[in-house]
Amino acid sequence: MSRQSVSFSDELAIRSPELVSLISYPRFSESEYKERVAEMESLGITSIALGGRTIVNGAHVAGKGCVGLVLRAKIGSKTCALKIRRVDADRKNMDKEVALHKIANRAGVGPRLEGHTKNLVAMGFVDGKSIVDWVEGAAKNRLRKMTRSVLEQCYSLDRAGLDHGELSRLNRHVIVSDRPCIIDFESASTARKTSNVTAAAQSIFLYGAVAGMVKKTLQADREKALLALKIYKRDQTRANFDSVLDSLPV
Ligand SMILES: Nc1ncnc2c1ncn2[C@@H]1O[C@H](COP(=O)(O)OP(=O)(O)O)[C@@H](O)[C@H]1O
Ligand SMILES: [Mg+2]
Repeated sequence: MSRQSVSFSDELAIRSPELVSLISYPRFSESEYKERVAEMESLGITSIALGGRTIVNGAHVAGKGCVGLVLRAKIGSKTCALKIRRVDADRKNMDKEVALHKIANRAGVGPRLEGHTKNLVAMGFVDGKSIVDWVEGAAKNRLRKMTRSVLEQCYSLDRAGLDHGELSRLNRHVIVSDRPCIIDFESASTARKTSNVTAAAQSIFLYGAVAGMVKKTLQADREKALLALKIYKRDQTRANFDSVLDSLPV
């Protein structure tokens, strides 16, 4: 799935008919719809703009996952990303995700949380491209800067004891605008051993779609990188993280 900047529609009032099937997705329930509209009002959402690369029920939206639909919304003059819990999500509310997202924010990672309710999370809107689209054609220096920034953010998460959980599928979880931003803390955990740096380093340089693209510009010494990652995995110190950075062309 590509995620390029795509123009957004005029601002729609939250009760607009175009939004009904997105607010209660994938099936309409009057009680769910009313509850969410009331929550949008309580968060101070003033309008929604359709647009983005993902199409849901014929409407363009900023994104869709298993837990939520993401729409671009306004709170007064501030643009934000509004994640709306799907009515078929495997959880009853967004509380756990919000608690984990707060830990990430305290570590300086993730879009800034702006507010939340039972079914909604409002956060900073990251207007950029998915990492795999961004990587294509990126100049060497910018690519090195971007990959180093992702790894530094992962190191901050490791230090904070928060394991993101999905960074081996990096493409769906990093949006690159001026800088890369790690999104979606729904699978994160403070109970698991942290493996953010190792998962991200492997998916940037060693395996998968992003690595395939990066390899065209930056080549990693595989053996050296794997050894540095193995040492870091056991003992997640800054010195061992620096050895990981030294082992990679960042
Ligand atoms: N803060 C954001 N800014 C812009 N787009 C976002 C933001 N958060 C999520 N998205 C988009 O919405 C999609 C789904 O969001 P995500 O949090 O991954 O949902 P889920 O928990 O259901 O997987 C993402 O892949 C991304 O395209
Ligand atoms: Mg997700």
